[in-house]
Amino acid sequence: MKTLVLANQKGGVGKSAVATLLAHHLRRAGRRVLAVDLDHQGNLSSVLQRSRRPLVASVTADLLLTQAQVDVPAEPFVLVPAADPLLWLERQPAQHTPFARNLRAFLRAQAGRFDVCIVDTNPNPDIRLIAALASADFVLSPIQLNQEAIDGVRGLLNHPRVGVHKIRALLNPALQLVGLLPVMVEATPFQRANFAEIVRHHQSLLIPLTDKPGEFAFIPKRSAVAEAQASGDLLWEMKKTAARDAWAEIEPTMRRLAEIVDPQEPHHAA
Ligand SMILES: Nc1ncnc2c1ncn2[C@@H]1O[C@H](COP(=O)(O)OP(=O)(O)O)[C@@H](O)[C@H]1O
Ligand SMILES: [Mg+2]
Repeated sequence: MKTLVLANQKGGVGKSAVATLLAHHLRRAGRRVLAVDLDHQGNLSSVLQRSRRPLVASVTADLLLTQAQVDVPAEPFVLVPAADPLLWLERQPAQHTPFARNLRAFLRAQAGRFDVCIVDTNPNPDIRLIAALASADFVLSPIQLNQEAIDGVRGLLNHPRVGVHKIRALLNPALQLVGLLPVMVEATPFQRANFAEIVRHHQSLLIPLTDKPGEFAFIPKRSAVAEAQASGDLLWEMKKTAARDAWAEIEPTMRRLAEIVDPQEPHHAA
């Protein structure tokens, strides 16, 4: 099982929407998917629950850190939902090392039961994110094309607590940065200029979509995505043409991410 953590130290950037799209896409592509929601706000939990696709585990995500032995059902698509006690973990510093150890042991124990684990996180650089990054194979950072986000790229790499360099040096040398995923992308001059700046300064962090130079993974801003997040519907199953058009734009990026995270042939079709 490969574990991918969605990380960005800002809220409302589209992390949970990417986590949702990717979880549904991976499942449709035949992967066995475990979704873990470490954000006490529970956006990923509520949208996946409304979709009725995953089986919802009886344990909540806080228990993956606080308990040594936690089990989830052996099903092809399982959600471990968020709960309020996730907020209290940071305030128990003496327990942080056991928290990280418990999550790692849990993920290791799931190795043969799922192909991919998607972990959605809260924006705070706290023990939840540290524990997730300490055990993950991959980190993906959705970013918006504004100046703040571009300034934040260095934080993703160099944050003293949760920066990729620090996590690799101290906790998890194998952590791979999938890269920056521009999300809620609009074809405005402002966003084009900001995108050009990212290409100039951080091109190696963007995710090539094809062999053609200059084509990178991204998620456009489309009202159908927000509607799917609100209703729980799967974008490609929605009746509106706008939803199908949005999915046609997004699918190449989802395919690329799936290939990076779990390049094997699918085990069984959904
Ligand atoms: N590509 C998109 N196009 C339009 N709206 C989006 C898109 N991605 C996310 N949204 C909406 O933006 C808001 C914030 O997204 P969300 O994924 O919850 O962000 P985060 O998890 O980073 O806090 C939500 O209302 C969501 O439905
Ligand atoms: Mg979120």
